[in-house]
Amino acid sequence: MTKAGTSTVDRGSSRNAATLITGAGGEVGHGLISSLHVAGRTNLVGIDIREIDKKLREFCRETFVADICDSTLVERLQSMFEITEVYHLAALLSTRAEFTPEAAHDVNVGGTINLLRLAADQARSHGQRVKFLMPSSIAAHGLSDLASKTAANAVKEDEHTRPITMYGCNKLYCENLGRYYARHYRQLAKDRMENTLDFRCLRYPGLISTETVPSGGTSDYAPEMIHAAAEGKPYACFVRPDTRIPFMTMPEAVDAILKLAAADESSLSRCVYNISSFSASAEEIADLVREYFPGAEITFEPDKLRQVIVDSWPADVDDSAARKDWGWEPKHDLRSAFEEYVVPGIKKRYA
Ligand code: SER
Repeated sequence: MTKAGTSTVDRGSSRNAATLITGAGGEVGHGLISSLHVAGRTNLVGIDIREIDKKLREFCRETFVADICDSTLVERLQSMFEITEVYHLAALLSTRAEFTPEAAHDVNVGGTINLLRLAADQARSHGQRVKFLMPSSIAAHGLSDLASKTAANAVKEDEHTRPITMYGCNKLYCENLGRYYARHYRQLAKDRMENTLDFRCLRYPGLISTETVPSGGTSDYAPEMIHAAAEGKPYACFVRPDTRIPFMTMPEAVDAILKLAAADESSLSRCVYNISSFSASAEEIADLVREYFPGAEITFEPDKLRQVIVDSWPADVDDSAARKDWGWEPKHDLRSAFEEYVVPGIKKRYA
């Protein structure tokens, strides 16, 4: 583990209060750290396997280039910080995970259990509950074929939970691990401390960011199409035009996790929530890209194997529990996402 971008830190007998963010340099990490900084949070500690951008490093009290599977990282964090909140974003996404499933399991499950244990140990050591936020994914769902996907409509959290990807299996299991740590951890141990973790999880749909280009996901065709058009590059979409899954913009994804984090616990009826802003087909997205970037060259060259993965994900999710319990409300439909976020943001990025 190496430490990067250190700002002033007291090294006395007491540990520094911290909000820990794993996967800090990733797509969601970018937006989340910027939002927490704007909200005046000065206690952010970021971890990523790669060096975190300079701008983000400046928003953090400390950052570490480290592997969440490394147990010495956990020990070091334990000794340095008093962690009261964790945003555990680090994961290997669905496409990348299919090339190295066991490595994905190590990171997605092994890394998560390290963080859950760290959070539970922290609560025992400083005596306060630790709030643990983790994004899960539509990939936790699995529909057996296109006919079931079409018949399923908007899928509820507990429906169709037989994922066909390693990433989806990992996320579904980690949802359960989080619930276990929050409610039943060491349930037979005499020295058990109850209620150490407040675990909250939301299942993101495909995410669209104008600031970062995704890598390793299977919903990446939508953002890739948009970024390619803005850069004036041709794009061959790897799924069929009629492929439909739910999506949201990155600012909505960041707002959602912050809103879930801030929700009054008594209003939460579950640990894991579906959320979505709009359900769109690849063709509908391509049509809007062509409308706003008239020179866009988009073709469809479906990759049979990646198609099977997207065909196993729901066309839409039922997010009524999130709406009811913590006031989740999407900001955009597909067109307003383009008009108000995608087009202005991406033009600025590639100007
Ligand atoms: N965006 C994720 C992926 O494509 C799914 O949530 O792997």
